[in-house]
Formats: sequence, C-alpha cells, structure tokens
Amino acid sequence: MTFLILPLIALCLFYSHLVTAFSDVTIYSPPSSYKIPRVLYARSLLLAKENVILATWENYGPEPPYFPIYQSSDQGRTWSEIGRVKDEVNGWGLRYQPFLYELPIDYGGFPAGTILCAGSSIPSDLSKTQLELYASQDRGRTWKFVSHIARGGVAKPDNGLTPVWEPFLMMYKERLIYYYSDQRDGKHGQKLDHQISDDLRKWEPPVDDVSYSNYKGRPGMTTIAHLPNGQYMLTYEYCGAPQGGCPVYYRLSADPLKFQSAQAHQLKTPAGGNGLSGSPYVVWTPAGGPNGTIVVSSGGHPEVFLNRNLGAPGSEWKKVPTGAQRSYTRSLMVMTDPKNILIVGAGLLNGANNKVTAATIDVSR
Ligand SMILES: *[C@@H]1O[C@H](CO)[C@@H](O)[C@H](O)[C@H]1NC(C)=O
Repeated sequence: MTFLILPLIALCLFYSHLVTAFSDVTIYSPPSSYKIPRVLYARSLLLAKENVILATWENYGPEPPYFPIYQSSDQGRTWSEIGRVKDEVNGWGLRYQPFLYELPIDYGGFPAGTILCAGSSIPSDLSKTQLELYASQDRGRTWKFVSHIARGGVAKPDNGLTPVWEPFLMMYKERLIYYYSDQRDGKHGQKLDHQISDDLRKWEPPVDDVSYSNYKGRPGMTTIAHLPNGQYMLTYEYCGAPQGGCPVYYRLSADPLKFQSAQAHQLKTPAGGNGLSGSPYVVWTPAGGPNGTIVVSSGGHPEVFLNRNLGAPGSEWKKVPTGAQRSYTRSLMVMTDPKNILIVGAGLLNGANNKVTAATIDVSR
C-alpha cells in the first residue's frame, strides 16, 4: 500500500501548491457598455469551513446597481456568479463600497455562518448616501435587507458635503461593530467612526475612531487586523495630511472601540521613502514567524508591505513584489493555507480598463 499512498500524497501536495499560487486571474471583465470605471473597490471573504471564497465589488452596469457575489471553490483560480445583493428598500441601488463578513456566532436572530454585506445605497444623481446591512443565510446566494445604519448627503469626497461611506465590519467581545467614514461632523472634512448593534437592527450612536483638529484632515477607509498580542491594528489613509497627499497611517489599541486615543504612526518603509499612499488594507496571518506577519496593501503600490514585529513603531516594513496590479483599495484575505494571501483588486478610480482580478502572494518567504 505505502508504495501507492506516498506518491499520491506527494502528488496532492505538489498539486495544491500549483493550485494556490497564481497571479492575474480574471474574476470579472465588465462589458464596454458599463459606465467608467465599470468596476472598482473589490472585497473578498473566505468561508473557511467549505474552503470557498466570495468576492464582490462596485459594479457600474445598468441602473439600479447591485453588488455582484462571485464564488470560487478552487482557491481563487476560477469564479462564477452565485448571487446579487440588491437594494430592497430605497429604490436607489447598492452603489458604493461593499464589504462582506461571516457571522462567527449566532447573533441578532441570525445563525452563525450568516454572511453580512455592508455598503452604501446611493441614487443615480448621487444626492444621498445610506449605509445599509444585508444578510444571506444561504452562503451568498440570496439576500435580505436587515437595517439602515447611517444616512448622509451628496456622495462626493469634497469637504463641506456630508456623505457616509467605506464600511468595515468586525466583532469584538461578541458585539458587531460597523466602522465607516463620516463627513457629517462640521468640525472635520471627514472622520472615522463606528456604531454597534446587539441585534443588527438598532444601532447605538456613532463614536469617533480617528478625527483630526485640522478641518481639512480626511482620515478614511478603516480596515482592522487582530494581532496575536491582543492588539488591534487600524490602518487608514490620512488625506489632507500636513505633509500632503494621502499617506497611510496606523494605530494600535487593545480596545478597537478606542482608537481615537491611540497614537498615530505613519506607515513607511525604512528606506525613508515617501511611505504608502492611499486606500490601505490590512490583514494579519500566523505565517512567517513567531509573530506572524502583518500585510498591508495601498492604492499607490503594486507591492505589499510586511511587518513581523506586530507593528511596533519604528520596526521594519518590507516591500515585497506581487503579481497583482495597483488598484484603488485593493483587498487582502488570508487563505486556507495562511502563508498565502489573496489580493483582489478592481482597478483604478476613473480607470477605463478596470477588471476584477485575483493574485496570491506567499508571505512566508
Ligand atoms: C516579535 O515582535 C516583538 C515586538 O515588536 C519583537 O520584539 C520581536 O523581536 C519579534 N520576534 C521576532 C522573532 O521577530
């Protein structure tokens, strides 16, 4: 028997390696009838138990827009559409900034394993923004409206306007937190805040996560990683920063409801370059050493940036090439084999050739 089984195991290991490492898989290529940028702002989610990956993005097809749900059952190599998250209440469509999250426990009357989708419902004239929550109890195939979270004004990123956008979901101490970017506070061009719900229907008032006394400061795009030392790491872009541009910053806090009082650190490579710029995304993976590896992507670079020191201020961020293109708010996801990170991007703001693509990178080397 052994003479048969061992080569079989070796073959399987070899094959799984081939299957998990790739660059430049096309998830979706939009038709030219779509409005530019056609697709943008991709997000992904690993359903660990089935080893299935879901992806979604902003989709600029026929009105009203919806968030497509694509699925891969072979580690990201091939994809097909399994569902659509459609606006059921406003008649505006689900237009901007989707985010997917799997409930790890029973919550608000939904069983563990329910998939949540957050995003902004916006009419075609962009006159209003409404952050929403939808849920799927059949692994992304069908979706139901759950609740409204925050309502804001015109969907343009100009100071003085009042949109709400860029949601990120996370559970902390068995409570669901809905993080987002908020322009409704007259003291700040934009700030980051969050709301909490114990039943997914009623939401507590917003609490600040990051705001700057400089009115033109526009912290945006919350993503958060949980580190093995108990700290949470929030990365964000700081547009309107004193040094200009949209440098990427991070904050570390043992309490992810209290980032406002945590120190801000600019995320820079040690070479003293300009640092990362725009639309960051952070994940932590146990691969790559005793501290695991923090992986950060940003809109300014095709590379990703690795840190093996739990983000200790002043510690090294190593710039590593990827097979992926630069994308506006490219998403990262730790795969079933945690040394592999899935990068899903959907192109650039105003990009005329955007498509949704996936690539993997092995961060253990
Ligand atoms: C893990 O992180 C800590 C905190 O930054 C650091 O002191 C330590 O050297 C790291 N360990 C390794 C093996 O890199």
